[in-house]
Amino acid sequence: MRAGKTLKINYYVEPDPAALARHAAQYFLEMTREAVEARGRARIAISGGSTPTATFALLADPNQPYRAHMPWDNLDLYWVDERCVPPDAADSNYRMTREALLDHVPLRPDQIHRIEGELDPEVAASRYESELRNSFRLEGAESPRFDLIALGMGPDGHTASLFPETGALHEMSRLVVANHVPQQKQSWRITLTWPVINNASSVFFLIAGADKAAVLNQVLTGARNPELLPSQLIWPASGILTLILDQAAAAFLPAADGEGRGFLERNR
Ligand code: 6PG
Repeated sequence: MRAGKTLKINYYVEPDPAALARHAAQYFLEMTREAVEARGRARIAISGGSTPTATFALLADPNQPYRAHMPWDNLDLYWVDERCVPPDAADSNYRMTREALLDHVPLRPDQIHRIEGELDPEVAASRYESELRNSFRLEGAESPRFDLIALGMGPDGHTASLFPETGALHEMSRLVVANHVPQQKQSWRITLTWPVINNASSVFFLIAGADKAAVLNQVLTGARNPELLPSQLIWPASGILTLILDQAAAAFLPAADGEGRGFLERNR
């Protein structure tokens, strides 16, 4: 499916990170249930970093209104990206997800599609690409269509492991690449490529914090410059992009309405 000329951007502004996490958990629940009802399965790719941790903990918590309603049996979990570190390393996205979510919910090992960050970067990328091809039963040049992709955004405008001025920004045929990111401590990363992200049925950003406010406004309302603002590459084929924000991150966006909802449109 090719993306259209116009991108409809729906953003939801929550007062603080805790409210953002609750909204995000509810969104995960609704989108997962919707995918299972429509297609029998929900194939979800999640990002790492710090923002999603509170949301994953809510999804895992038996005392919260999400866990009991999640169709865990019909869910396949993938990652958007991973640092090239072992799965028990402090900055492993897998480790963060295991501690906050996987250790507390009934997902079978075959439902968890980990990026093997402990391997040589090129080997990890090609093995994860094969995992996608096999688990999505792709043929030829087909791209996987995730039901839901959850993204974060860094203060430099990166998303996934698509960092400014790095090679992965220009990869349009592979599904997964190893990306050298000299500006990061963990300089090798494995990431879905942006065409794969854009092919998902639903893509949303989870963004919190004042340090994201200026770049978020640039990404959504500023001149197109994806080499420096890679989050601008995210233009879902569905024509819709959703963001769940806290007030601090949304500070420079047009004010949300009484229900905390905002709307923008971007044209190519
Ligand atoms: C990663 C993520 C990355 C993250 C942003 C935001 O591997 O770190 O995939 O893209 O989403 O860096 O991170 P925070 O949520 O920590 O701000």
